[in-house]
Amino acid sequence: MPICLRSHRPVFPARYFVFLLCLFLTLVSFILIFAWNIHFLWPFAVFSALSVTGVLDLSQTKHSVLRNYPVIGHFRFLFEAIRPELRQYFFESNQDGRPFSRERRSMVYDRAKNIEDVLPFGTELDVYDDAYGWVNHSISPKPETHDDLRVTIGGPDCKQPYSASLFNISAMSFGSLSGNAILALNKGAKAGNFYHDTGEGSVSRYHREGGGDLVWELGSGYFGCRAEDGTFDAEKFKTQAANPQIKMIEIKMSQGAKPGHGGVLPGPKVTEEIAEARGIPVGKECVSPASHSAFSTPLELLDFIARLRELSGGKPIGFKLCVGHRWEFMAIVKAMLKTGIKPDFIVVDGAEGGTGAAPVEFANRLGTPLRQGLSFVHNCLVGTGLRDDIKLAASGKLISAYDIAGTMALGADWVNSARGFMFAVGCIQSQSCHTNRCPTGVATQDPKRQQALDVPDKSQRVENFHRNTLRSLKAFTAASGFDHPSEFEPEHFYLREGNRAIMPASAALTWVKRGELLDEAHNIPAYSTYWEMAVADSFHPAKSLATAKALQHHKVSH
Ligand SMILES: Cc1cc2nc3c(=O)[nH]c(=O)nc-3n(C[C@H](O)[C@H](O)[C@H](O)COP(=O)(O)O)c2cc1C
Repeated sequence: MPICLRSHRPVFPARYFVFLLCLFLTLVSFILIFAWNIHFLWPFAVFSALSVTGVLDLSQTKHSVLRNYPVIGHFRFLFEAIRPELRQYFFESNQDGRPFSRERRSMVYDRAKNIEDVLPFGTELDVYDDAYGWVNHSISPKPETHDDLRVTIGGPDCKQPYSASLFNISAMSFGSLSGNAILALNKGAKAGNFYHDTGEGSVSRYHREGGGDLVWELGSGYFGCRAEDGTFDAEKFKTQAANPQIKMIEIKMSQGAKPGHGGVLPGPKVTEEIAEARGIPVGKECVSPASHSAFSTPLELLDFIARLRELSGGKPIGFKLCVGHRWEFMAIVKAMLKTGIKPDFIVVDGAEGGTGAAPVEFANRLGTPLRQGLSFVHNCLVGTGLRDDIKLAASGKLISAYDIAGTMALGADWVNSARGFMFAVGCIQSQSCHTNRCPTGVATQDPKRQQALDVPDKSQRVENFHRNTLRSLKAFTAASGFDHPSEFEPEHFYLREGNRAIMPASAALTWVKRGELLDEAHNIPAYSTYWEMAVADSFHPAKSLATAKALQHHKVSH
C-alpha cells in the first residue's frame, strides 16, 4: 500500500470512540471533584469503571468483538442474552414463536386460566399454506356427548387394566422440572382424574405428595429400581411398582427430541431430593446409557415386559419410542408374534417432541416425525392382527382439540402433552430449561426461582387446561358428526403430504390391511422390504436391503 494512503488511517478508529469518551470523562470528573464538587465522585467512579473495562477488553484474547469494540461491544452480549425476550415482547406476531406460536400458547394460557378462548375476526392462518391441515365437519353435527373421554388400557395378560383420560401429562422428570412444577402438575392430574408420567427420573416426593395417577417410566438408568452397578433390580422394582398410585409402567426406548442419546447427571446436580427419587447416592455422577442393559434383542425386550408384568402384579406394561429404523420396530412385532407376549400399550413420540436439553442435531434431524411414526406403528400392528390387544398413545406438539382429533384419526387411542402442561404451570417458552435459570420456576432446581411457582394456583390451571381442552374436543367431535373422538379415521383428516396436492390422510399415507403383513407375499411400499429384513432375535437386519427386495419380489411374482 502506498505510504500516502497509509497515512490517512486514523490513529484511533471510530469504534474506539466510546472507550476514549469514557477515558476523557473519567479525567474531567476527576478534575471536577477537586475544582467544583465532591459529588463528581459518582460519575468518576462510573467512568473509571468503564475505562478499566475498556482496557481489559483490549488486552483479553477470548472475544474479538470486545478487542475491536472496547466497552460498547458488551451491548452485543447483552442483546444476545435478552434476544428471546425482545423477540417475544416486542416483535412476535400471533403466528410467530417457535416451537409453539404465540396464538397456540395463548390458547393454553386462556384455557388454564379458565377464561374464554375465542378468536376474533377469523383465522390468521394461511389456509392455502403447505403445512395447513384440517378435519372435516358434518352437515348434521351430533349433540355434544357428556361421556367421560377415556380409554381402557390392558391386553389379555394384564390383571389391573387402567382407564386413562384421552389427554395426559407426558413424561418429564423431577430434575428437569422443579419440585413445585411436579407437585402442581400432579395435583392438577389428581383433581382432573388423568395421569402424570414420571419421566425417567422416577417417583419423587412431589409426585407422592400430589397423589395423582402415575405412569412410572423406566429409562436405561432404571431409576427407582437401580442396582448399584446401574442395572435393573427386580426386588426394588417390585416394591415400588406395588404403590397403588402407579397405574402403568412404561419402558423408555427413545424420545423424539434426542433418540438414541444417553445422559450423564453430574455429581453436583444429584441433590438429596433427586437421589432419593432415583435411588442413587447423593453427589455422585450418574449415567443413563444410550441403550438398555436389561435387554439387547426384541425377544429379550418382550421377556422383560413379561417379567415387569409379573413383578408389578399385572399392571399394564408398555414402551415409548420415537420410530427409527423401520426393521427394528418390525423386529419387535415379529418377536410378539413368535412369543405371544405383547405390551399393553405403545407410546409413539414424534421427532417434533421436546426436552430439557438435547444436542442440536439430535433435536433437529434424528427420528421420525409423529404422523409418519404413528401411522407406521399402527399399520404394523393392524397388519399383524395385534392392534386389538395393544393400545397406542402419541405425543409431539399436541395441545388442542384439533391436534388430538387429527392424531386419533391416524391411529392413536389417546395423546400426551409435555409442553402444553408446562405452559399451564406458567412456562413462557423462554427456552432456558438447560440453564437452571428458568424465569418462571418451572424447569429449574434453583430453590428461589421455583418458589415463584404458586402450587395451588398452578395446579388449578393444570386441571382447567385439561378440562377445557377435552370440552373443546367434545365440541369438535360433535361438529364432525361423531359421538366419540375414537371415530375419527384417516379419511376425516386432510393434509398435504410432501409437495402433493391436499388430500385425506387415507390417501396421503399408506394404510395396511388387517393381517396383510402375515401373508406370505405382499408388496406394500415402505413396509414389505423392511418386513423381510426384520428378525425377532435381533434389532439388526438379517439381510441387506437389496437381498430383501429381491426376495420379496420373488415371493410376490410366484
Ligand atoms: C422438559 C422436558 C423433559 C422431558 N423429559 C422426558 C423424560 O424424562 N422422558 C421421556 O420419555 N420424555 C421426556 N420428555 C419428552 C416428552 O415427554 C414428550 O414426549 C415430548 O416433549 C413431546 O411432547 P410435547 O410436544 O407435548 O412436549 C421431556 C420433555 C420436556 C419438554
